[in-house]
Amino acid sequence: MSRVITESIATTSMISPENSELFESITSDLSEKGYSVNQNALPQHLSLQLLDQLHVMSRKEFDTAGIGRQQDHTVDNSVRTDEICWIDGSSEAGEKWLAWSSELREYLNSQLFLGLFSFESHFAHYGPGDFYKRHLDAFKGESARLLSLVVYLNPDWETEDKGELVLYRDVHDSTGIKVSPTFGTVVAFLSEDFPHEVLPAKRDRYSIAGWYRLNNSIGNRIDPPR
Ligand code: OGA
Ligand code: MN
Repeated sequence: MSRVITESIATTSMISPENSELFESITSDLSEKGYSVNQNALPQHLSLQLLDQLHVMSRKEFDTAGIGRQQDHTVDNSVRTDEICWIDGSSEAGEKWLAWSSELREYLNSQLFLGLFSFESHFAHYGPGDFYKRHLDAFKGESARLLSLVVYLNPDWETEDKGELVLYRDVHDSTGIKVSPTFGTVVAFLSEDFPHEVLPAKRDRYSIAGWYRLNNSIGNRIDPPR
């Protein structure tokens, strides 16, 4: 019986076969616990293309990461020391990544009725010793960021290389769940509910961090930019 129901839902949302297992697991994890960790999960051709893109990008394309939006934007290297590069569709890899994240958005909307509207994301480079202290990606009522998505692009990453993402289940949790940033790992979590941090690594560490937003119109402008 449940099999029949699953199949009928699957046919109503457009999803490519290579994504179905991952998208289903993100969906059930989010509805059960609000976060999802999936190792070796991003389609390999996409991870490899994103890695190639990182290799052709020069250091100049990365900017020191800041905190906050527009006027409130500040660079504070006691909080984070990584450098970032926002992803637009100008490279083939960027375009494929945006298409993939949009397929995930549509799937989540069809299954969980989240009303996710737009997506913004950046490459991040953490050099050895770089960190991002415990933080929330969104504060209730202040931002339209609903869901955070992080993928890792570090081939041959070993546990001793450190650089874990630590996800805390709530404000009181001081232990957290440690995620090693291995190639192709996909993490999703509700932005307002999970404080998290990036621990220093021994090697260069690359990730993409992205946020799905609700439609947040300000002064007649639909979903204004950051
Ligand atoms: C962020 C972030 C996590 C990571 O950029 O907000 O939390 O593991 N990144 O790179
Ligand atoms: Mn974050």
